[in-house]
Amino acid sequence: PATAATVVVTAAKMVDVLAGKEVDRPQVTITDGRITAVGHQGDAVPEGAKTIDLGNRTLLPGLIDMHVHLTSDPTLSGYQSLNYTDSFWMVVGVANARKTLEAGFTTVRNVGSDHYDDVALKEGIEHGYIPGPRIVPATYILGVTGGHGDFTEFPPSIETPSDNIANSPDAFRALVRKVHKYGAEVIKVAMTGGVLSKGDSVGAEQVSPAEIQAIVDEAHRLGMRVAVHAHGTEGINDALRAGVDTIEHASLADEESFKLAKAHGAWFDMDIYDDDYILAEGAKNGVFPESMAKEKMVGLKQRQTFRAAHAAGVKMLFGTDGGVYPNGFNARQFATMVQWGMTPIEAIQASTKNAAEALDKTRDVGAIEVGRYGDLIAVDGDPLQDVVLLQHPSFVMKGGEVVKAPQ
Ligand code: ARG
Repeated sequence: PATAATVVVTAAKMVDVLAGKEVDRPQVTITDGRITAVGHQGDAVPEGAKTIDLGNRTLLPGLIDMHVHLTSDPTLSGYQSLNYTDSFWMVVGVANARKTLEAGFTTVRNVGSDHYDDVALKEGIEHGYIPGPRIVPATYILGVTGGHGDFTEFPPSIETPSDNIANSPDAFRALVRKVHKYGAEVIKVAMTGGVLSKGDSVGAEQVSPAEIQAIVDEAHRLGMRVAVHAHGTEGINDALRAGVDTIEHASLADEESFKLAKAHGAWFDMDIYDDDYILAEGAKNGVFPESMAKEKMVGLKQRQTFRAAHAAGVKMLFGTDGGVYPNGFNARQFATMVQWGMTPIEAIQASTKNAAEALDKTRDVGAIEVGRYGDLIAVDGDPLQDVVLLQHPSFVMKGGEVVKAPQ
């Protein structure tokens, strides 16, 4: 456009996630989608700028969820998912993208979807067809035959897709190259068994040390980071030794894992709210009985591990596994994180400052700072006193565009 579009946002307070403190009477200027000034009310307002005063509210950077599955619906778990056609999940993704953005999550890392659906969602959002967060897509979850990333709930006579399955270092290299070719910006690997997958043991290692090494080398060579689904101790530790970037779930991580994570600068991304939802709703949603049993084995343990990992100084992220519980309720996990040892500012930094670092996007997202996108939310009160406020942002802005305004 010939004239720059400038918008100036003011509020009573702002959470400065880089400094780890609140600032009074902030004024944030955004021009053509990026932040151009961060100051105080009373500073000069560029001529012709649109102004938005959020009154008594507190401004925060748009939130980031590092572990979602936008194209999943937890109420259609287990065999219930088979009642729908393949492209149905794309429709689910379109609806969930809007819910996630309106919930204040302006960026998500989508760590697993079939058919490159997350790439299509990203393209649709970027071209303005549908509302949604910025998406960092992983496309398929890579894994071994019979592992957490495979379709293990069918008899041998029913052939299942194997676009994401490999069983040797070279075959995994080829898969990394293939998903990168079709739009993956991060690699997701199912390193150990899972809770919701049928027929595997949640703690067992599935990908070999040589295979994860090949994946990490190839992904890093292509400029991508590696997110590893791992509940089991051996799998977590072998993945960390191979140089992976983020450990998802991390349920059975031990002292050795904490040491390795710190030595390698890896992050833990632990979905510690999910246990409540799965135990309450899982059976009704179609979750396999064996998965309910696995959840009972790891749920509490994972929370204890979260507390210990944080206390040991492991870098922590905010990732919910949205899709395993309803997308749009991502912010519920903040209270669980505070309950299990974080301060409110630490929980907020996990979903802003730290998340941007783990995405390698500190120039774009994760803080209200000059140069980054104008991705802002506001809550009605002080989130450092009560993180539950984050569940109901009354204002959401993405790239300087208002997504949700106070009623
Ligand atoms: N996608 C994960 C899995 O199937 C979900 C784990 C949820 N449970 C938990 N306690 N975080 O393994």
